[in-house]
Amino acid sequence: MDNIFSRFFIAASALSLTILVSCSHEETMAELTGRVMERASIQFAILDHHLQDGEFPRSYDDGRYIDSPEGWWCSGFFPGSLWYVYEATSDESVKEMALRQTHRLDNLVELYTDHDIGFQVNSSFGNAYRLTGDESLLPVIEAASAKLAKRFNPTVGCIRSWDHNWYNYPVIIDNMMNLELLLNASDLFACDSLAQIARTHADVTMKNHFRGDFSSYHLVDYLPLTGEIDHKQTVQGFAHESAWSRGQSWGLYGYTMMYEKTGDEKYLSQAENIARFLLPMMPEDGIPYWDFNAPGTPDASEDNAAGHPSKYFWREGEKIQRDASAGAIMASAFVALSALTKDSKLSSECRAMSEKAIRTLASPMYFAEVDEQGGFLIKHCVGNMQGLSEIDVPLTYADYYFLEAIVRFNRM
Ligand code: GLY
Repeated sequence: MDNIFSRFFIAASALSLTILVSCSHEETMAELTGRVMERASIQFAILDHHLQDGEFPRSYDDGRYIDSPEGWWCSGFFPGSLWYVYEATSDESVKEMALRQTHRLDNLVELYTDHDIGFQVNSSFGNAYRLTGDESLLPVIEAASAKLAKRFNPTVGCIRSWDHNWYNYPVIIDNMMNLELLLNASDLFACDSLAQIARTHADVTMKNHFRGDFSSYHLVDYLPLTGEIDHKQTVQGFAHESAWSRGQSWGLYGYTMMYEKTGDEKYLSQAENIARFLLPMMPEDGIPYWDFNAPGTPDASEDNAAGHPSKYFWREGEKIQRDASAGAIMASAFVALSALTKDSKLSSECRAMSEKAIRTLASPMYFAEVDEQGGFLIKHCVGNMQGLSEIDVPLTYADYYFLEAIVRFNRM
């Protein structure tokens, strides 16, 4: 049978075998990590090159960079993302970039405007110190934690989030994320009062921000002279009584972190209950819609029936948007919780959900090509749907928590 047909047959069989072999091989998490970190090194060099004095990456929309000043709550995430790439690769050139980008925030403590100094300094200087042990980084961490602690009112038992004057004393669920700076600083500088503030804030938030089903309100406005609650509301979510996805991710992450750092079981139990609320509502690929209760949001079975992966859900001609940033934060929190909980079923569910989300975010649907999205990594995030801002765009914090999730996944 040595003719053109037999040669064609042999070639076609070899091709089918190659396709079969390559289709049957699921990328391992080690391979995924290598691929993501390589892409991140290239993308972040593009971002680094783009930034001018006083500019920090925020997002990229319609071919245009959206930068932010140093004081914006997200200014620490780009240096922090670089630190995670360095942690995963030991690449000295990435370390040099991470250190340079971190030091661009040297004056942040003078410029800070709200509670988010915790996010800003912990993701940049906190990671820098964790990975290098360089003590010259400590004064910024110490000064930032002191500024954050000054925003604590013992009558309310919480750190004030914002100074906008139309609120009495606003505390948002996001504020749980700023407590990590206080707990780290408490250990570093042997200052127990910082840890005490963090614990009190977490306790009061646990009491007042959560509903019976362990979903959370976005904002609780207190009366600062008495500590009474004036009202509860949303700012970025669909409705006051809805479960805004990123808010739920901050709560899950925040209480998991509180348990990890303090060993206090009540925080573990809170994180487990938040996870038990979230897991049944998550789409199969691990990326939530921007608000679990926004009109038209499919439930898990409807979503799965629609087929995956899908970055949107269409209902009656309207696009229901996912928020990849909430997916990235949850992926990082779920994997951390899976290592801490003693409930073995919950542990495997959390780990599986984290892996699903990481794999989805690392797929072409969400993971930017080289030079696409201006050097950001993760597409299809929602910053503020209600404010009609940052819809279906990359966001610097999605990149940060995505990389953190991968580093944590490999560590645990
Ligand atoms: N303020 C943080 C957020 O938008 O989630």
